[in-house]
Amino acid sequence: MFSALSRQPDDALLALIGLYRQDPRPGKVDLGVGVYRDEEGHTPVFRAVKAAERLLLDSQDSKSYLGLEGDTVYLDRLWRLVGGETGARLSAAGVQTPGGSGALRLAADLALRGGARRIWVGMPSWPNHAGIFSAAGLEVVPYPFFDSASQTVLFDRMIEALDGAGAGDVALLHGSCHNPTGAPLSSEQWALIATTLEKRGVLPLIDLAYQGFGRGLDEDAAGLRHLIAAVPESLVAVSSSKSFGLYRERTGAIFAVAAAPAAADLARSNLMALARTSYSMPPDHGAAVVRTILGDEALTRDWIDELDGMRARIQGLRRILAAGLRGVAPALQSIETQEGMFSLLPLSEAEVLRLRSEHAIYMPTSGRVNIAGLKTAEAESVVAKFAALR
Ligand SMILES: Cc1ncc(COP(=O)(O)O)c(C=O)c1O
Repeated sequence: MFSALSRQPDDALLALIGLYRQDPRPGKVDLGVGVYRDEEGHTPVFRAVKAAERLLLDSQDSKSYLGLEGDTVYLDRLWRLVGGETGARLSAAGVQTPGGSGALRLAADLALRGGARRIWVGMPSWPNHAGIFSAAGLEVVPYPFFDSASQTVLFDRMIEALDGAGAGDVALLHGSCHNPTGAPLSSEQWALIATTLEKRGVLPLIDLAYQGFGRGLDEDAAGLRHLIAAVPESLVAVSSSKSFGLYRERTGAIFAVAAAPAAADLARSNLMALARTSYSMPPDHGAAVVRTILGDEALTRDWIDELDGMRARIQGLRRILAAGLRGVAPALQSIETQEGMFSLLPLSEAEVLRLRSEHAIYMPTSGRVNIAGLKTAEAESVVAKFAALR
């Protein structure tokens, strides 16, 4: 059976990491990674995570199963962080998942069970979105989102496309820090998206994978809070991978939000049944860490401080890049106002490959760069190499 299988293409980003590792040139730059890096090129464990882990080591007295729903205290505290006051007024049924990816998959499974057949996904998007949704059995319908050459959100075209969605369709939105473009949406734009989806009877699925990396914890959730309050039902997929630096601990949650508790309960019961026939129960450790941090004022303060520092570093690098590109490509000034780790540079494949071969600057051929892959000291020289391409 196995020998009859066809080989699957290597994951492009993982292949890029391999090429970068093999490059012997000193001063090589990796802008391809999907994780936060500090000034030393390291992906740190948050101080508050280490402290919470020490507490857990001493206090955990069982490794028995968590249950299908996961850690309900984690879910309550995480929902408070995501939903704020708005979330507290709505009925939200949360289920802990293996990472944000697990949350997206359960969301797709639930939507399919609820009768959805199509999911609208803005282009470009994180490539795994389409992969997860189609693996679940949903038809992925692309809608225009971003033009890389002009670095602008194609908002009118996006709304026009979503206005053509049918009742019972699902629409994917990035909560903040859009991957791969970093392009923010204004509160007016979120309001119009909400009106359009509500009018069409479309279920929003909001992917929140970078809360705190854009403008701030509350600011990054403001759009989604408006949206979930404006529609009768919605799904919010949360990843704790970046915001708590828990990547490999596979920590996330899916929240089904409804106006009435009975509908949310039904969603929870189905999410748990879907989890049971997939991975069964979620891993515990990452959620226990988040629960511990969010349940302790001092740890929460320290976690927010460190997260604020990461955001400030990214914003500082964005300012340096925008300043260096002033006069080269006016559209690229928006790198400064884009949010989170990623931006999508309007580079051709040939230009990306030239940067790689001539300057040991690594990024995928799409031109998506992880700003956090840069060190402040090298940012100006990297930007000069971008500029020299034109
Ligand atoms: C937009 C987006 N959503 C979801 C995820 C899922 O993250 P994880 O499954 O590692 O929690 C990622 C990870 O890169 C992402 O970029």
